[in-house]
Amino acid sequence: MALWGGRFSSATSDDVTKYSESISFDKRLYKHDIMGSKAHVKMLAAQGIIPAETADAIRAELDKIQKRIETGDFSYDITMEDIHMHIESALIEVLGAEGARVHSARSRNDQVALDIRLYLRDQVDELIAGVRHFQRALVLQADANKDVILPGFTHLQHAQVVVFAHHLLAYVEMLDRDAERLADCRKRLNVCPLGSGALAGSTLPINREMVAEELNFSRCTRNSMDAVADRDFAIELVSALAIFAMHTSRLSEDLILWCSQEFNFVELDDAFCTGSSLMPQKKNPDVCELTRGKTARVYGALTALLTMCKGLPLTYNRDLQEDKLAIFDALDTVQMILKVYPPMIETMVLRKENMRAAASDPALMATDLAEKLVELGVPFRTAHHRVGSFVKYCKEKGKALDEVTLAEMQETIPEATAEFLTLFDPEESVAKRNITGGTGFAQVEKQLEFWKKNLD
Ligand code: ARG
Repeated sequence: MALWGGRFSSATSDDVTKYSESISFDKRLYKHDIMGSKAHVKMLAAQGIIPAETADAIRAELDKIQKRIETGDFSYDITMEDIHMHIESALIEVLGAEGARVHSARSRNDQVALDIRLYLRDQVDELIAGVRHFQRALVLQADANKDVILPGFTHLQHAQVVVFAHHLLAYVEMLDRDAERLADCRKRLNVCPLGSGALAGSTLPINREMVAEELNFSRCTRNSMDAVADRDFAIELVSALAIFAMHTSRLSEDLILWCSQEFNFVELDDAFCTGSSLMPQKKNPDVCELTRGKTARVYGALTALLTMCKGLPLTYNRDLQEDKLAIFDALDTVQMILKVYPPMIETMVLRKENMRAAASDPALMATDLAEKLVELGVPFRTAHHRVGSFVKYCKEKGKALDEVTLAEMQETIPEATAEFLTLFDPEESVAKRNITGGTGFAQVEKQLEFWKKNLD
């Protein structure tokens, strides 16, 4: 009979047992469940709700159970539904009536809310460390290639020349906001729900603050109904993960393009690619493609959580058991991304000559011509129009922008001087973008110094 079997006359049907179990996925909460129970019984004893010897015996037995779980000497049984029931039953099995005191002034509703918060708090700390590591890999690759230039794109069309390091540092910025978002949701995670009971607290004289302090929470939740009903902290975390995955997916898309024969800007190490079962010549950037695909699953987790919560009347409803599948899947996916990407970034090889060659397209410097006109006093819109006509002229003549004479240029840009013919040097074009946040070499150097210092 289940631990809650008192008011039931017959057992749950086998299919319902299978349908409602969560042990197959919530067993990963064991450590945090035990941590929470240990703090709980310590408080119960301090408050005189259970004898001190009982609390000691329970705490010692919980440690043993943890060891048993970790060494594989613990059996799971879906009739015991979830990790909370498993651990409580194991306690009772050994300690009998003493063990049966552990659940005083507690419900699985506040217990599971506690366990998820404890688990996610650890995960967030790991995730932040992982994101920082990822940033360091990007900075390392950027620093090694701070003189390399390539075309920057808008609409996937040649736009203006940029420094390769600047491109990578754009992702470092994105990841920085991801780390900040994680740190921010940790604040709201780090609040202790234990003592909220099923929904209405307890008649027993518990000391919630003591448990919160014991478990290193910043405070207790203020409202017991809110504490057992909401999962917004998990939604927030998964949404931060979804944004992170989106950033990584975009980086992956850049890499996929750069690896293509058409671009041929980088080559990923063999360790991060796979071949074709049919075409012997293939080397495919599967990791990057998988990340685009897995990002969809992280979005799916976010959508599942939001949808799961939107129609729930207060307070706890069993629907909430499903939250863990979505949360764990999103976490596992992102943890894998964080493992695979830093070494993939660090080992990729640049085809600098190809980047440089693509960056030499003089059309990339068309904006520089317009800005030179602005320097000479021409209103920008007029300047833009003149250079546009010049580009059209070149196109009609079948010439590159740097293949015309000054006289030809002056047909469409009357203000053009000999200096205009020198504006097609890609390195100089980059160097001149020496403003805060710009891609000028000096600015990129500054950004690199900033990150090297801050990521140390
Ligand atoms: N396995 C449940 C969950 O994950 C634990 C809480 C069950 N509470 C209840 N009243 N049935 O949500």
